[in-house]
Amino acid sequence: MTNPQELAQAFSEMFGAQPRIFRAPGRVNLIGEHTDYNEGFVMPAAIDYFSFVAIAPREDRTITARSDNFPETAELNLDRPMKGRKHWSDYPLGVAVKLEEAGHRLKGADLLIHGDVPIGSGLSSSAAIEVSTALALLDNAGLSIDRLDLAKICQKAENEYVGIRSGIMDQFIACFGKKDTAVMLDCRSLESTPLPLPEDVKLVACNTMVKHQLASSEYNARREECEEGVRILSKHLPNIKSLRDVSIAELGRFGSDLSDVVYRRCRHVITENDRVLRAATALRNGEVSRFGKLMAQSHQSLRDDYEVSCKELDLMVEFANETPDCIGARMTGGGFGGATINLVNSSKVDEFTVHVAKRYADATKIQPEIYVCSAADGADRVLVKDRLPFPACCIRLRP
Ligand code: GLA
Repeated sequence: MTNPQELAQAFSEMFGAQPRIFRAPGRVNLIGEHTDYNEGFVMPAAIDYFSFVAIAPREDRTITARSDNFPETAELNLDRPMKGRKHWSDYPLGVAVKLEEAGHRLKGADLLIHGDVPIGSGLSSSAAIEVSTALALLDNAGLSIDRLDLAKICQKAENEYVGIRSGIMDQFIACFGKKDTAVMLDCRSLESTPLPLPEDVKLVACNTMVKHQLASSEYNARREECEEGVRILSKHLPNIKSLRDVSIAELGRFGSDLSDVVYRRCRHVITENDRVLRAATALRNGEVSRFGKLMAQSHQSLRDDYEVSCKELDLMVEFANETPDCIGARMTGGGFGGATINLVNSSKVDEFTVHVAKRYADATKIQPEIYVCSAADGADRVLVKDRLPFPACCIRLRP
């Protein structure tokens, strides 16, 4: 199923009702990794791969959720909400629970979810499901809320219901993505700056097709190591609230109390924040090769200091860098597998994909998936015109 009209058709066959359809995009992060939960800077772009949610009301206060990626139907009674079950449905149902907890009284609904954002690829399929579900549930209840509040509620669902202590980046960009534009976000003030992307450059995500098991436990462990760093450094720097407030000189001066591991985690975050700011300047000045060098430094720091890369991601980056038209390459998202993000000259994308796919398949015996993306707008309702021949015609509504 790859278009909203097919989703509407499948929904009406399943539930005997015409649904409304909402979608939210996945994302790539160009630079600024593992900085969001340290109140730092990130630079994601929403991509034209989406999660779709079809929804129709029910008479009771039950939410049912089905996905065409998984066989079983999940149910939630809004009057007796259960806890997360370590199940795919924790994402949509967690959003329902957190919307209600925030005081938004929902109505019962049937949901059918279809995702084009590859799961486990580091391209944020989870936030895309959360945000598209939230829009659908609110619309179903005749409610609308501020988009920033919506992003925060979705993040809460992931933190408290799913149990991953992620930052705000993914939910924010799923709500506030902008066509042909990357967005620099200050994760402390939540102020964002649009940064138009060069016209002759494509965002190419290369999926390693591996997702190592420790991804979520190690993610939470990294967050704790950063918190430990702040705790110890604050003995010397009483005014700091997060690693955002620490300079590299201060880390050098006061870092001797930190373990080697915590020191390196802090060094990654502090240098990465600086790289995002420099990358924004480079983009504004049209200095793409400078931007690419910062991406390379970011990858090294994630590999050596933050230790969230893996053999497959390192190989994918190495093979990308062999091609002359790759401006920059690095892992994107939480790490431990998933995808790399590559900035590639538009006219040479085919050569790039052929080269990287072959080199990666030869080296690992794994066939990668490669997605050539454009920066897209944030979440939205999709109107499906009845009786249109394939492909469906989607009409965008204003957010
Ligand atoms: C995941 C999280 C984000 C962010 C990235 C790493 O995608 O959901 O909040 O922390 O990892 O930058």
